[in-house]
Amino acid sequence: MEALAAVRIGQVGLGYWGTNLVRNFDDLADLRWLCDASAERREQFARRYPGARVTDSLDEMIADPELDAVVIATPVPTHHALARQALEAGKHVFVEKPPAMRASEMEELVALAEERGLVLMPGHLLLYHPGVHKLKELVDSGQLGDVLCVYGNRQNLGIVRENENALWSLGVHDLSVILYLLDEEPEFATAQGSWSIHAGVEDVVFCFLRFPSGKIAHMHLSWLDPHKMRKMTVVGREKMVVFDDMELERKITVYDKAHPRARRSQGTP
Ligand SMILES: NC(=O)c1ccc[n+]([C@@H]2O[C@H](COP(=O)([O-])OP(=O)(O)OC[C@H]3O[C@@H](n4cnc5c(N)ncnc54)[C@H](O)[C@@H]3O)[C@@H](O)[C@H]2O)c1
Repeated sequence: MEALAAVRIGQVGLGYWGTNLVRNFDDLADLRWLCDASAERREQFARRYPGARVTDSLDEMIADPELDAVVIATPVPTHHALARQALEAGKHVFVEKPPAMRASEMEELVALAEERGLVLMPGHLLLYHPGVHKLKELVDSGQLGDVLCVYGNRQNLGIVRENENALWSLGVHDLSVILYLLDEEPEFATAQGSWSIHAGVEDVVFCFLRFPSGKIAHMHLSWLDPHKMRKMTVVGREKMVVFDDMELERKITVYDKAHPRARRSQGTP
């Protein structure tokens, strides 16, 4: 990782997930700054990473002319504003998913990064998962036949977040995989959810997508479920495949199964 070793990084957000990012960026790059609103988190991280400067102010961090890139791991509603501030200061940005909560805000960030020649990278970590690469290879090779539908299950009885619902927190992962596999944009999307723990923050969401090619996709996202599932199923006319990330050894299973009529109508819309 020679090229990365020189990148001077500052991270804002040192919570549950930020802890993992800091550990990796400290290994891979030059960790210069740590920023968090909480004094307790700042103290803990200052002890752990004595080579980095610690602050509660993103302004102070991005004023450092030597800083190349900013990593953002704060709660979702803060992402867009922080990412914009860092890009405007001329810093490359890695921002946890989703980088923004509105399409217009996302477009603004992408335009800003393009204009300034900066990297804007969202934390879509599943796109780097070998299991997802295998799924993509199976889809693209045509072994499954035409893909008819894809659906994701991301459920458990888990950490219930207070300021981002199951769609923002869990669904972004599945959506990134579905768009990668199908390589087209949905023409129709709908999501319905309900909350029973934190008012207004949906802990169960069902989301449906339809694509111009006729393919459909579904996501079941929940923190209120008896099953712990991290699963993506792709149904083709010829074969079906399941990627099960809860399996330790056999994460991908190809089912050599299809309905004869689905096979016969290959190629018809
Ligand atoms: N890629 C993944 O699989 C994955 C997993 C978990 C969380 N995440 C994402 O990581 C992000 C953080 O989640 P988390 O679980 O670590 O949350 P968290 O609440 O544990 O941590 C957030 C931290 O940000 C700090 N903070 C909040 N607003 C701030 C601001 N304006 N300036 C500076 N510091 C601020 C808080 O003090 C806290 O320490 C979320 O976007 C979440 O979706 C990603």
